[in-house]
Amino acid sequence: MHPVEPFRIKMVEPIRLVEHEQRQAAMRLAGYNLFALRAEDVFIDLLTDSGTGAMSQAQWGAMLEGDESYAGARSFYHLADVMQKIFGFEHFVPTHQGRAAENILCAVLMKPGGYVPSNMHFDTTEANIRARGGRPENLVIEEAFHPTLQHPFKGNMDVSKLRLFIERIGSQNIPFGALTVTNNAGGGQPVSMENIRSVSEVYHEYGIPFFIDACRYAENAYFIKLREPGYAVKSTLEIAHEMFSLADGAFMSAKKDALVNIGGFLAMRDGDLYQKVCNELILREGFPTYGGLAGRDLDAIAVGLVEGLDEAYLAYRLSQTAYLAQKLLDANIPIIEPSGGHAIYVDAGHLLPHIPHGEFPGQALAAELYLQGGIRSVEIGSVMFAHEDPDSHEMLYPELELVRLAIPRRVYTQSHMDYVASVLGELGEKKETLRGYRITYSPPLLRHFTAHFEPL
Ligand SMILES: Cc1ncc(COP(=O)(O)O)c(C=O)c1O
Repeated sequence: MHPVEPFRIKMVEPIRLVEHEQRQAAMRLAGYNLFALRAEDVFIDLLTDSGTGAMSQAQWGAMLEGDESYAGARSFYHLADVMQKIFGFEHFVPTHQGRAAENILCAVLMKPGGYVPSNMHFDTTEANIRARGGRPENLVIEEAFHPTLQHPFKGNMDVSKLRLFIERIGSQNIPFGALTVTNNAGGGQPVSMENIRSVSEVYHEYGIPFFIDACRYAENAYFIKLREPGYAVKSTLEIAHEMFSLADGAFMSAKKDALVNIGGFLAMRDGDLYQKVCNELILREGFPTYGGLAGRDLDAIAVGLVEGLDEAYLAYRLSQTAYLAQKLLDANIPIIEPSGGHAIYVDAGHLLPHIPHGEFPGQALAAELYLQGGIRSVEIGSVMFAHEDPDSHEMLYPELELVRLAIPRRVYTQSHMDYVASVLGELGEKKETLRGYRITYSPPLLRHFTAHFEPL
């Protein structure tokens, strides 16, 4: 038996499955983009695990005590204490979410034509780098592209590819290097401590500052505890501390493993960089002791960061994901294996081989999941990542066409997971009837958020 939820429910939010005709009408109105649906028309919302978690009584209590002073608020120092214990960086600034931290980092470090390697950048990181004229480079290990291949740390970066890449591009053209833990764009797969250490050594050998995208660092730390030799006896706090001791900084969307609905931060060791970051922050987010958040938000993050590292919570969290994964495998739905931390990634390209990249198999599956069962998911495939090569103008498609079922933290129960598995199982039985989509409107960046589609 897997760990039972280590909490009980004190407050409930009603949800309902609207009629099939209403779901069809909602989709037409939304231009078949699931981001454009009204949340009330969604039954089980697995669009994202970002900012959708349930806060604890301790977090709500801390919010009531938030200090709303413009500068030097008590809430900031609560957060600073926790930041020091977990991450250990000399400086940090709060931001209103993860992409704001990315934006500020790119604003101060990025020069047009610069390259930023990572195992895999997430979409907002990638877009922030591109928006400053830079080029993101994904160097995840080859195993990541084989959905059913078993590997304990499929989020690892290929260290020899990284070295070759730096040699080819020249370290002077790499303003910073990144590593995403866990690797959201590649299936929520963890990165081992050994890999973090090797990546750190290579970056440092070439004098490249190393920043960790820390959104799901606690889930990553627990995977290290479970899977990496020598770490079973260490606490997740000790593991997290070790992870960040290898980096020069981190950017984080607190909406994930800090268990809050809004917030983020950018942390670093370098004092000169911190000065530049503060100037940029004041321009875009706010004064360095609140950075675009209310004092109460800072308190909620301070408590949430500690709760997010709790091992009873993490054991339940990872096993809920594994439970849904097993149910889907039992129903012959292809997914990325082993299951990651925060989400299940259905391999839509494999499930729907009759739909080519350019007709968006992931979009087809995600749309049908909503139409059939009121379940909202997100495409992580060609809608999100296909782009024109700036040199050859050739259309480049991602290797995997995925649909992510992201599981909000502490929100849904086992019977919700059973429902999701049964809807997907039924869909799998009539997969040949699914058709692709055509894009009818597309913005220049981050098109998946606002594109419009038409069924073919
Ligand atoms: C790995 C990763 N990095 C960055 C972000 C951006 O964070 P935010 O949505 O808070 O801007 C996300 C959000 O999903 C993410 O998963």
